[in-house]
Amino acid sequence: MVRERIEELRRQLELHNFKYYVENAPEISDFEFDAMMRELQDLERAHPEYADPNSPSVRVGSDLTAEFRTVKHRYAMLSLGNTYSLDELHEFIGRIEREAGATDYVCELKFDGTAISLTYEHGRLVRAVTRGDGVEGDDVTANVRTVRTVPLRLRGTDWPDLFEIRGEILMPYASFDRLNAEREANGEQLFANPRNAAAGTLKQQSSAVVARRGLDCTLYQLAGDELPFSSHWESLEKARQWGFKVSDAARICRSVAEIDAFIEHWDTARRRLPFPTDGVVIKVNDFAVRRQLGFTAKAPKWAVAYKFKAERAATRLDSVSFQVGRTGAVTPVANLEPVLLAGTTVRRATLHNAEQMAQLDIRPGDTVYVEKGGEIIPKIIGVDLAQRPADSRPFEYITVCPECGTPLVRYEGEAKHYCPNQSGCRPQIIGRIIHFIRRKALDIEGLGEETVELLYENGLVRDVADLYDLRAEQLAPLPRLGEKSADN
Ligand code: IVH
Repeated sequence: MVRERIEELRRQLELHNFKYYVENAPEISDFEFDAMMRELQDLERAHPEYADPNSPSVRVGSDLTAEFRTVKHRYAMLSLGNTYSLDELHEFIGRIEREAGATDYVCELKFDGTAISLTYEHGRLVRAVTRGDGVEGDDVTANVRTVRTVPLRLRGTDWPDLFEIRGEILMPYASFDRLNAEREANGEQLFANPRNAAAGTLKQQSSAVVARRGLDCTLYQLAGDELPFSSHWESLEKARQWGFKVSDAARICRSVAEIDAFIEHWDTARRRLPFPTDGVVIKVNDFAVRRQLGFTAKAPKWAVAYKFKAERAATRLDSVSFQVGRTGAVTPVANLEPVLLAGTTVRRATLHNAEQMAQLDIRPGDTVYVEKGGEIIPKIIGVDLAQRPADSRPFEYITVCPECGTPLVRYEGEAKHYCPNQSGCRPQIIGRIIHFIRRKALDIEGLGEETVELLYENGLVRDVADLYDLRAEQLAPLPRLGEKSADN
């Protein structure tokens, strides 16, 4: 009786989890979902004999302790040939058709995350392994279990008893922005892009941390000894039925013109997607044709990636401000009219140094082009001279430190200006302390960037050594600190 109820709850929760996270079409309220989950957790606690590592209640599993185990892939995880050129893509298609005749292709988005291979036995997730070097990867099963769109148990019954499915672990922009905002507040190093953040998160030692980071998983390729399909398209449709998240952007294309149209559409439409993509993957659909074409040493001859060029946008340069780093180096920063670029709103861009600014002859009021590669801060790559206001004047670089007024210096062979006032310039002092307490150096708990600023403003620290002389009664009266954190 209890056992049946537990099974029923697990089935229901898997189903509604699927409807909510994969189909984006919940049929019950969060409240009802939570109530079922609580009932299941209570029953499981009372009846440990019915425990199951694949129960929806244990998505956040035990924390990993040691390093990750290395696992050999049953089928190697190959890479894809790639190109930025439509001409090259057309040649690639030409070669295929000379060898195999006219054939169908499946065009998919190229998801910009980190590759994962999931193994299912008897419809249950048993292993999740990173790509690693393609031959073997890290066993990150406990972490992947926390990803809501990864089914722990499959729907239906017509899956092979043993198969692997590959796809991409992605970090949606919303999760990425939230994560970096949190890290900034804690004085932690920011992730440069959602791809690095997704890969870094998968290697976390705590699956509870992974669970909070909001990862997603999209699947795009099956592997197995006896897959019951004759085409890729068929396998994608089945995977979808079994409960995997399979992108609905995929299309069958029957000609170069249809492939080109797919690319052209997504080159702009991808800007509206909630997660990052960096191209399109074109794959031969028919498995018999794939077998005929075979592989090179590294990649299949039946698939290729067409990569989008980095996104650019035009906007106005409102003003230039200057940041002084912990070493005294001065960096000019462009303040821009906010513009949407690669899924995030860009308000600032780096200008590197005086020389670069002079080379671009960049001036406030100019219309400038910004480009976002893999970096956190986008860069300005050019000026639209045709739109320059008539009264515009060349920009004059600053000669004194914007923070402390000390005349700037330029050292032999260095492109940047420096403020030489190491012992009296606020951002240099604070920057040095923050650098010292960062996670990788001292890892002082509860001491972030804001607290260091607070201590500095109140005359309590001028250098790292001062941190060790702090007493609780000096800290307690400070705003936002209170007795407990002062003691800590
Ligand atoms: S198929 C043998 N499809 O791109 C081909 N890969 O450069 C297996 N990727 O490691 C890959 N989106 O991480 C395929 N729709 C897609 C993809 C995709 C992203 C990644 C994947 C792979 C890399 C190859």
